[in-house]
Amino acid sequence: MPNVRLTDHLDPAYLRQALESDVRSGLSARPKWLPPKWFYDAAGSDLFTRITRLPEYYPTRRELSILRAHATDVAVRSGADTLVELGSGTSEKTVLLLDALAARGLRAYLPVDVDAVTLGEAAERVAARYPGIEVHAVCADFERHLGLLPRTGRRMVAFLGGTIGNLEPAPREVFLKGLRDTLDPGDSLLLGADLVKDTARLVAAYDDPAGVTAEFNRNVLRVINRELRADFDPDAFEHVARYDEGNDWIEMRLRATRAMRAHVADLGLDVAFAAGEEMRTEISAKFRPEPLAAELEAAGFTPAELYTDPEGDFALVLAMA
Ligand code: AVJ
Repeated sequence: MPNVRLTDHLDPAYLRQALESDVRSGLSARPKWLPPKWFYDAAGSDLFTRITRLPEYYPTRRELSILRAHATDVAVRSGADTLVELGSGTSEKTVLLLDALAARGLRAYLPVDVDAVTLGEAAERVAARYPGIEVHAVCADFERHLGLLPRTGRRMVAFLGGTIGNLEPAPREVFLKGLRDTLDPGDSLLLGADLVKDTARLVAAYDDPAGVTAEFNRNVLRVINRELRADFDPDAFEHVARYDEGNDWIEMRLRATRAMRAHVADLGLDVAFAAGEEMRTEISAKFRPEPLAAELEAAGFTPAELYTDPEGDFALVLAMA
């Protein structure tokens, strides 16, 4: 495609170092933890796609329905001619936004993702569908490389899916402020956020009876086994999903079903698990509209609109820089 280009800020050495340091700190901590970023190798991305099709996992469908209903309004109110998408993945939902923006003079689409393969494929697909739009794919870690994103055009930064929920409040504040600092007046943010709801529905969305989420959770151990030559037995860990009502977040954990040791050869690290020991692998925060708007304001944004689905399950917030 003549209208597509790729910039890579993630050399293999950088990724390797980030994985090593995350795994070393997480497995040496008490309680142990691992960051959700490392779920997403090719197998993990496929498992996540399967999660989005589960009847219990409502966020993707709800966000799509909000986009179907309001993408035109978002396009008009943002006035953006450049769409930057953080954590773009397969860019599937983005088509709705792109259609609405393209009808109003969109010039460029910049998908940003850590997975170069998924990113490249998505960029090619979008470039073929919109020959008049410049597609500039940026392989980067959006928590670290915000400053490296191109600053041309009237930008709208889309951060969809509720991925903001993977950040705890303190890093979330750092992230939102950092993002705000890279934007200019007239630019905007379109943020997808899952909303607080009935606990049983929340837990069911993260603990499906088909066991897809359990496999997704255990996949982080497979990634570590392969990348860092470790010998975890993923089948010896049980999937746990709990809702923490004090913090308004889902916690996914892996529970050791027996006492065991694992060796991470590339780190020279030996890890012992007690029977029943739980290791946190993800938080997925759920939001309430007013506090979320307040967080955005505290980061320097001006919330303009909160769109939700008829059931009030999920929200898209448009905020101006
Ligand atoms: C991709 C981070 C939005 O938190 O709902 C799905 C990941 N984890 N099921 C989420 C996830 C378990 C998902 N995000």
